[in-house]
Amino acid sequence: MKIEHVALDSQIQDILVKQGITELYPPQADALPYVLRGEHVVLSIPTAAGKSLVAYLAIVQRLTHEGGKALYIVPLRALAREKYEDLKAFTSLGITVGISTGDLDESDIRLSKYDVIVCTSEKADSLLRHGMRWLDKIKVLVIDEIHLIHDPTRGPALEVIIAQIKARNPATQLIALSATIKNAVELADWLGGKLVLSDWRPVVLKEGVFFQNTIKYNDGSTKCITGDTKQALELLVQESVHDGGQTLVFVNNRKSTVSLANRLSPVVADLLTEAEKKDLKKLVHSMKREQPEAVGIEQSLVQSVEHGVAFHHAGLESSHRRLVEQGFKDHLIKCIIATPTLAAGVNIPARRVIIRDLWRYDGNFGMTPIPILEYKQQAGRAGRPRYDTVGEAITIAKDGNQRDHIFYNYILADTEPIYSKLGSQAALRMHLLAAVATQFVHDTEGMYRFIQSTFYAYQTDEFTIKKEVDEAVEFLLEHQLIEQVSNGYVSTLFGSRTSALYIDPLSAIRLKTALEQSNTKQTTPLSFLHAVCSTPDVRSLYLRGADSWVEEKAERVKQSLLRDVPLASTDEYEWFLSDLKTAFLLEDWIEEQSYDALVQKYSIWPGDVHTLVEMAEWLLHAAREFARMYNFSSVTDLTNLLVRVQNGCKEELLSLISLKGIGRVRARALYREGFKTINDLRGVPLERLAKIKMIGKTVAKNIKQQLGEDDLLGNTTLKRSKR
Ligand SMILES: Nc1ncnc2c1ncn2[C@@H]1O[C@H](COP(=O)(O)OP(=O)(O)OP(=O)(O)O)[C@@H](O)[C@H]1O
Ligand SMILES: [Mg+2]
Repeated sequence: MKIEHVALDSQIQDILVKQGITELYPPQADALPYVLRGEHVVLSIPTAAGKSLVAYLAIVQRLTHEGGKALYIVPLRALAREKYEDLKAFTSLGITVGISTGDLDESDIRLSKYDVIVCTSEKADSLLRHGMRWLDKIKVLVIDEIHLIHDPTRGPALEVIIAQIKARNPATQLIALSATIKNAVELADWLGGKLVLSDWRPVVLKEGVFFQNTIKYNDGSTKCITGDTKQALELLVQESVHDGGQTLVFVNNRKSTVSLANRLSPVVADLLTEAEKKDLKKLVHSMKREQPEAVGIEQSLVQSVEHGVAFHHAGLESSHRRLVEQGFKDHLIKCIIATPTLAAGVNIPARRVIIRDLWRYDGNFGMTPIPILEYKQQAGRAGRPRYDTVGEAITIAKDGNQRDHIFYNYILADTEPIYSKLGSQAALRMHLLAAVATQFVHDTEGMYRFIQSTFYAYQTDEFTIKKEVDEAVEFLLEHQLIEQVSNGYVSTLFGSRTSALYIDPLSAIRLKTALEQSNTKQTTPLSFLHAVCSTPDVRSLYLRGADSWVEEKAERVKQSLLRDVPLASTDEYEWFLSDLKTAFLLEDWIEEQSYDALVQKYSIWPGDVHTLVEMAEWLLHAAREFARMYNFSSVTDLTNLLVRVQNGCKEELLSLISLKGIGRVRARALYREGFKTINDLRGVPLERLAKIKMIGKTVAKNIKQQLGEDDLLGNTTLKRSKR
């Protein structure tokens, strides 16, 4: 349907046309009338079919007419950025757009000034807990990738957000965007919305299997690729790049992303033009600039990028991840080898997607086949509108049987139904506590009613729901997170803080116990680091065969730990050692061990150090809040430790590190030159500071400005120190 025939304001039509969108895709045209009438809608249509645009149009049409706000919820930060950028195209209509993915224990008042807010599901859940008033002005709530209700970590929050916003403001319009799933009808029925189903895709996606030099596609066609059949991957990448396309290869583990990037580098490098090689060098230069502490392991990334190939997984620095994505969008990087984190909703120009692994390791079941939904999401990254006019998703078979198996079980198969994960005790205790703490529910009946409005209840019998809810309530009462009052429940101060801090109630209980112990024990930073690593909110490192040192060191430090050591050879003991190993990593970090050293010693990636540091910061912040609340003596220790963890530095750098623009490397450089505190920097000539390695003139000027010594900028007099 042509844009000029769509029932949208002409200014909106103009913006679309300016972006090159002259027609609505058929499923978009189907959905739009319902959306514009303000009905709830579930769009369950193929990848790349333009689901987001339907949501954008609903938002802008409604907000320009009625005012109010819209909340656009996505699962990942990278997606939030993409949607934020898209929505900014509509700001000429007078609509302002904000993004929020950060700190979970803040109310983010800044957000109240925006009309449209894009955020992750955790952030949205946390905003609800802070009782932000503007949430009541939400006219349109968009849930992108709603099939993630199926995901144990992300799903429960999604259900709870929907249930709460529906209850607070029944007039809010819900727009749920989903991959094609088997029980989309259930989802729409639960939301009381119109279901728009379609199998139309703007760019045809051919799915096929490669075996014995031939790709057999689902449309019956075949394609021959000559060459050594043992090098199937090389052949598939080479052919695609040779034809001017780009390839995305999905594998099930990080190690393979690196080894395959190495293997494929010479293949792709041979096909690069001189101009491309030059541009890739520039890209490599930006990547090196992003990483002031050179890390050996990321060198391999830089090396392959120079050859037009990159690997991509959650262990990379986020800046590197972004540069890789951008390099691919700019058609410089021709091939990315990625773990499935890149499969959710992102738009990248992959003409060919190769899905190497149709199985993955599961801690409980060993190697298991991946769900069809995941296969389809990975395949769906190929052939995105604006980038390509064709797309193909290829798997590689070892024999004829396997080829048939892949056709039958993946390519031609229907995706699985999705199931709620809110029924776990961990999810229920967390969300019920939040509901009581925000006074969304007041009594048992209120709790049942709240849970009754979730997708979990839609899929579960009443008896089970009541049993599970009762068990969670008992837990909250027993640990004094909530208490009984004459007509129901209220949260205790401890419960309210736990909810606002956005931590698992079990984490709060563990922290509180550890803090009580710290009152009577000689503590070290490790005592608190281990306490935070022992909470379920921090994902601890795996113990490996070569980690016997952890157990040996445990013996030496056990006196300072804020919990008893479990009996050896029990499962609990293994967990304890994992937590302790994680705490040792953080201890090394605050002792200023280099990234390289940490990466080597703990077999992890720089991005993992960041993730861990972020989690530890969040839990240390929570611990300090509890310490303040209970008047424990550890508040100062925790404050210092928090800053040290944030910066990865020893205590002696705490003064210097408080300057803006001074991280641990620069602070250490200043310290080595005898400037040990901010006071030592007062009155020192700019030139003197600028000469120090890692400082330079710009940083030196910045320091002087922060000291209020603008008068010393550019001259060498020592006026102040002489006074
Ligand atoms: N009517 C249209 N005309 C041209 N391009 C469009 C149109 N609608 C959407 N697009 C473009 O199509 C691309 C895919 O859209 P979008 O990301 O919304 O897909 P999606 O349905 O959410 O896919 P996924 O399930 O993979 O998340 C975007 O680049 C978008 O700008
Ligand atoms: Mg999408």
